[in-house]
Amino acid sequence: EKGGYKHFMIKEIYEQPRAVSDTISGNMAWFKGDVPLEGIDPTSFERIQIVACGTSFHAGLIAKFFFENFSQILTEVDYASEYRYRNPVVNGKTLVIAITQSGETADTLAAMRLARKKGAKLLAVCNVIGSTATREADTVIYTYAGPEISVASTKAFTTQLTALYMLSLWLGRENGVLKEEEVNARFSQLMEVPSKIEYFLGREKKEGNVKNIALEFYRSKDALYLGRHVNYPIALEGALKLKEISYIHAEGYPSGEMKHGPIALIDESVPVIFIATKGSVYEKVVSNMEEVKARKGKIIALLNPSSPEVERISDFKIEVPEVDEFLSPIVNVVPLQLFAYYIADFLGYDVDQPRNLAKSVTVE
Ligand code: F6R
Repeated sequence: EKGGYKHFMIKEIYEQPRAVSDTISGNMAWFKGDVPLEGIDPTSFERIQIVACGTSFHAGLIAKFFFENFSQILTEVDYASEYRYRNPVVNGKTLVIAITQSGETADTLAAMRLARKKGAKLLAVCNVIGSTATREADTVIYTYAGPEISVASTKAFTTQLTALYMLSLWLGRENGVLKEEEVNARFSQLMEVPSKIEYFLGREKKEGNVKNIALEFYRSKDALYLGRHVNYPIALEGALKLKEISYIHAEGYPSGEMKHGPIALIDESVPVIFIATKGSVYEKVVSNMEEVKARKGKIIALLNPSSPEVERISDFKIEVPEVDEFLSPIVNVVPLQLFAYYIADFLGYDVDQPRNLAKSVTVE
């Protein structure tokens, strides 16, 4: 059932073009306005609170950028395990979005129940039809990733981002924040994402660039992932993937925070993975790379074609297709998934069933 792949994780990584594309088409009806998004009055919200755990939480951190930029709705993001114990400010004008692949994560369900008690509207972004979260929410937006078997989440994440991006454009349009043309332009860019991921994965299959870089670094004891803006959460997600399946200590940081502490960790033995694709913070990331270079860190850079500044500074390069900055997380996470996968595989670990972890965490 692994379809010729060695593990579910690599199979699911390669399924992402299909999964993202299915998530777009599966959500088209409400997005276009052909059917209502049941129970949701888009003009009635003063704030959004996102609750989630793990990889789904990282999707939430990126969605905050979507909702604030495209819908102009103040957005907070919490770990569900924190939210449920922090007496959040919630009222009838609060939209609480629970992001959960399984729909069964105990902390996320508890956060939803608390929000409900306080009078919020509840929307679940979920991959499993009929799961508890989908039954308890007022509204459900499904991701169409298909069953995710690997404990390390991959296609659930990219499809969550896809669905949340669509929701933010929809809210923006319905609120009068975005003009129809801008919604259409941004939607067309989203439609191109599956083929961009497909192109990247096809090239990797032939050339094995990420695999070769993984071979250089699989004996590392630590790794640092750095990014800014929408790609800061991608740094967190890259680090989480590496930790959970390869058991290598890894940290994700916003690269502008480095000089406030983590730069002390850097020496020639620590790989530093920079997300340095084009966008509003490109030059800022380049200067952060200079700081690492000055301390002899080994730089692995995710970059777009024709990025001479990054090419010059980096020791290893992973080229990814260019997409709009807000969509870049969906593309940029893919090489980081592959990097973690190959490292874990080189170390001989059970990639699909990492130690101490369960696919869905149904206890607190
Ligand atoms: C990481 C991973 C976990 C889950 C988290 C939430 O690869 O799979 O961090 O993302 O346990 O699970 P869901 O989304 O099912 O609520």
